[in-house]
Amino acid sequence: MGMTKSKEVSIVLDGKKAQIPAGITVKKALEISGYKVTTYPAKDALFAPCETGGCWSCAVEINNELKPACVAPVKMGQKINTKRSHDYVPKRIVHGFSGHTVGGVGTPYWFKGRHEYIEVACFAAGCNLRCLQCQNWETTFTGKGHPMTPEEAAELMTATRRKFKVDRMAISGGESTLNRRWLVDYVKVLKRLNPDHNARIHVDTNTTILTRGYIDELVQAGMTDIGPDLKGYYPETFMRITSIKDKGLAVRYLNTAWGSVQYLIERYKESVFTGVGIPYNKELIKPEEIGMIGEKLYEIDPEIQVCVLDYRPEYNRVNLVRPSFGEMVEIQKILTTKGLKTVICQTEYGHIGPE
Ligand code: FES
Repeated sequence: MGMTKSKEVSIVLDGKKAQIPAGITVKKALEISGYKVTTYPAKDALFAPCETGGCWSCAVEINNELKPACVAPVKMGQKINTKRSHDYVPKRIVHGFSGHTVGGVGTPYWFKGRHEYIEVACFAAGCNLRCLQCQNWETTFTGKGHPMTPEEAAELMTATRRKFKVDRMAISGGESTLNRRWLVDYVKVLKRLNPDHNARIHVDTNTTILTRGYIDELVQAGMTDIGPDLKGYYPETFMRITSIKDKGLAVRYLNTAWGSVQYLIERYKESVFTGVGIPYNKELIKPEEIGMIGEKLYEIDPEIQVCVLDYRPEYNRVNLVRPSFGEMVEIQKILTTKGLKTVICQTEYGHIGPE
């Protein structure tokens, strides 16, 4: 066998034979064969936002089985089908179905501090950001775990709700919104399995790809609560926090996040609970910028719930120093001085505020 041959494999791509270099991923094979693969959702493109095998947004059929293209290796004789039928069943890796006593940024403040189970939550694997201080990095970046259909995840979530006897059911991450079809179907099934009026379906998100149309779809499916993150006022801050290197992409992500918060209040203030999350650590964002975020949020809605998260040493930023209690009290003051009525701060001694 000649050198050239041993370095190539032949596969069948959407019914057409193709010679592909060996040792690459299916995603790479698609790219070099002229397919459009993107890091921001686009029409007629395969959306591959996490590239760690967690979100399965990039999934294609390989020998009749759904697999994430970003991590699946090309192999000799593979039959790859990228066209999904309208009734295809999406999958995604989801972890950690359990009861929680603290809740997320989208949990209304009056539930917090009860020292009892207030919510059940699960965590979707994969993220489009690369935050070095990620607080859930194993779920976020390793792609480990079993893929579940929306039906399977919603059944497990419903059983977890029964076990912990709560009404709030949250999905966080990783980034919950990366696989749109999966998330919308999951919320729909969860609503069907929990038709009572007390049931609350809560989505926690970095909001970077959550467009207006996507919000509408989630609300129609049954989402009642949302916790969007705003990781900065300036794109440079967003880039520092998330390690996104492409400025154009960072601007797009940040604008999408701010646009979503505005839209959620304008369109859904009466029907969906929105609680915004903002980060604080003096090494990542200055108090003045927190003030600017506060001003902008005040213009959107003075009553909007804002939860400031004290970013701590985690994952690949172990030298970060957790903000002191006093610093968090200062941050709370900055935001309330801007006129915001509902400011919660996470501190080393638990949540503070609103008064
Ligand atoms: S982009 Fe491939 S699994 Fe997320």
